[in-house]
Amino acid sequence: MVDNLVERSIDGALSHTGKPFIADCLAKLSQWRASHGDAWISSGKGQKVAFVPTMGALHAGHLELVKHARAQADLVVVSIFVNPYQFGPTEDFDKYPRTFERDLELLSPLGVDCVFYPTEKEMYPAGRESIVSVAPAHPLNDTLEGAFRPSFFRGVATVVTKLFTLVQPHIAFFGEKDFQQLLVIKALTRDLNLPLEVIGVPTVREADGLALSSRNAYLDAAARKLAPVLHEALSEVVSASQVGVSVEDAVKGATLIVSAEPEFSLQYLAVCNAETFEPLPPSGKFSKPFVVLVAAKLGEVRLIDNIVVR
Ligand code: PAF
Repeated sequence: MVDNLVERSIDGALSHTGKPFIADCLAKLSQWRASHGDAWISSGKGQKVAFVPTMGALHAGHLELVKHARAQADLVVVSIFVNPYQFGPTEDFDKYPRTFERDLELLSPLGVDCVFYPTEKEMYPAGRESIVSVAPAHPLNDTLEGAFRPSFFRGVATVVTKLFTLVQPHIAFFGEKDFQQLLVIKALTRDLNLPLEVIGVPTVREADGLALSSRNAYLDAAARKLAPVLHEALSEVVSASQVGVSVEDAVKGATLIVSAEPEFSLQYLAVCNAETFEPLPPSGKFSKPFVVLVAAKLGEVRLIDNIVVR
């Protein structure tokens, strides 16, 4: 049933070839998982399972997560599930790109062992209104992304907790592109004592600085040309931080860069402590580790980005 071949080379290293096993229902995932490596946590031996949760529409940023996972574990599971629970009523759930066949083609050469591809019915059998959910705490849940997308982090935290329970990974990889999400997932893993390690992977960018995102597919040619302005604004804050400018003045300078382009509607540009997510005091100087975060609408397309300075 499992058609991913694991071959051992002359030096003893494991190499994974062939197509991943597709677990398109919970029963198939649980069967696959039961036959693969449970011993790691207690003994540090056995098969170490890495997990990369995604909503599909894969790009080089996702593939980078998979490569990190491949390098650090014996088995790699990728999930593809467009989680309805994390989209607001006016957001892009219906039009979110669904490219399963292409996603599989991209994953196969990377040595992914299992692709978990559940249905909404199986993930939320009782609908999503009346289920027990995972609510992150302030400030992660309700500031910046959480303020503009009020139920987003509850939806993310809930589905990620369900995915962790089903896949039972020993390590899981998330992109720093969604930095607030990464901190939410680290916090839920710590606070709910989940037995795995969450690892952040640096953002992959186009040559002009634009952070890779599945939503970049919505940009038309003119918007695509303007989109790197967000990265330019973030970089300006980082440069200002290096020459003793106050947080407030650095943010003002960067805001001017974005607002000089009338096509942008800026939602936030902020500087937070990269661990606690508390805002840095505006009149003070920068103290590390910090993260500069931005969200803006470019026409109808909402873009987010950040730079972390450690
Ligand atoms: O970042 C994403 O793609 C999603 O928010 C995640 C973590 C897969 C949960 O649905």
